[in-house]
Amino acid sequence: MSKKRILSGIQPSGTIHLGNYFGAIENWVKLLDEYECFFSIVDYHAITAPYDAALLPGRIREAALDNMAAGLDPERCTLFVQSHVPEHTELCWLLNCATPLGELFRMTQFKDKRQQHGWENISAGLLNYPILQAADILIYRADAVPVGEDQAQHLEFTREVARRFNTKFGQYFAEPKTIIGRGKRVMGLDGVGKMSKSMNNFIGLTEPAEAVWEKLRPAKTDEARQRRSDPGDPFKCNIYSYHELVTGDEQLAEIRQGCTTAGIGCIDCKKILAANLEKVVAPIRERRAELEKKPEYVRDSLMAAAEKCRAIARKTVDETKSLMGLGGQI
Ligand code: TRP
Ligand code: SF4
Repeated sequence: MSKKRILSGIQPSGTIHLGNYFGAIENWVKLLDEYECFFSIVDYHAITAPYDAALLPGRIREAALDNMAAGLDPERCTLFVQSHVPEHTELCWLLNCATPLGELFRMTQFKDKRQQHGWENISAGLLNYPILQAADILIYRADAVPVGEDQAQHLEFTREVARRFNTKFGQYFAEPKTIIGRGKRVMGLDGVGKMSKSMNNFIGLTEPAEAVWEKLRPAKTDEARQRRSDPGDPFKCNIYSYHELVTGDEQLAEIRQGCTTAGIGCIDCKKILAANLEKVVAPIRERRAELEKKPEYVRDSLMAAAEKCRAIARKTVDETKSLMGLGGQI
């Protein structure tokens, strides 16, 4: 029996951090054997918001290197750059014409951006963003899409696009399922919101150990622990939430015990965290350094992936056009 196919999209927003890793990539890596996996670095989506054209190529490269190093091994999945497969935009156009405008105006992401920036300052691309995303998925006839909670509406929209198309032009697209990742929510260093690059509140996945320590050392802990002798509550401490990502059960129990009895100091607790984190990220950092030494390998694997994608995508676009009455003999 052939494997089911999944696809997900990766925003090329620069260096990735622990939030990206534990929130998404770590889960994807677990799916690599069970499914036929496609991962797209969605540069066509990245240009829907204002951006610096001079910086974009670097961001795309970073996204490719980071994700390959973090486990999206080109030998085990199809990792490609969206704009290398122009068929995505071709299918997007076809689907655009089969989607009512009202549906797009109702999307939360669009409504938020419109309110924030105003009609004149957002692009038509932003309005059509969900259709491009639907095209990304439907073009490979993906069975399922692993994403975070925040993408649920886009996935529901994708299924509606498929349904509407099928009703108008004949049963063709299967409705893809959503696999909501049990990805972990990683808090930022300030312990207030989600880890995010824009808030400069993050630990980069491939940062050197010393740089990570410079961030952890001053990071906030449970406020009750003013002095070394004050007991604390690990569940009120952001550092403990990081321990939960990388520390084994036995040691976790020791830390809880040490924290509530003031048996362990925060600095020692952070040192243990830094050491455990290093065990997870060191191999990723090393793989990343290896990949940087082989730019032609990275380039070739992205090109080979795009070629494989184009063959599948071309077929879908041709069949879609044909169902829509286009591309036939004149
Ligand atoms: N919109 C997604 C995000 O912001 C990225 C994305 C683009 C995507 N195309 C996709 C996700 C296709 C899943 C499937 O994260
Ligand atoms: Fe947080 Fe550890 Fe300090 Fe407890 S001992 S408050 S878990 S850093």
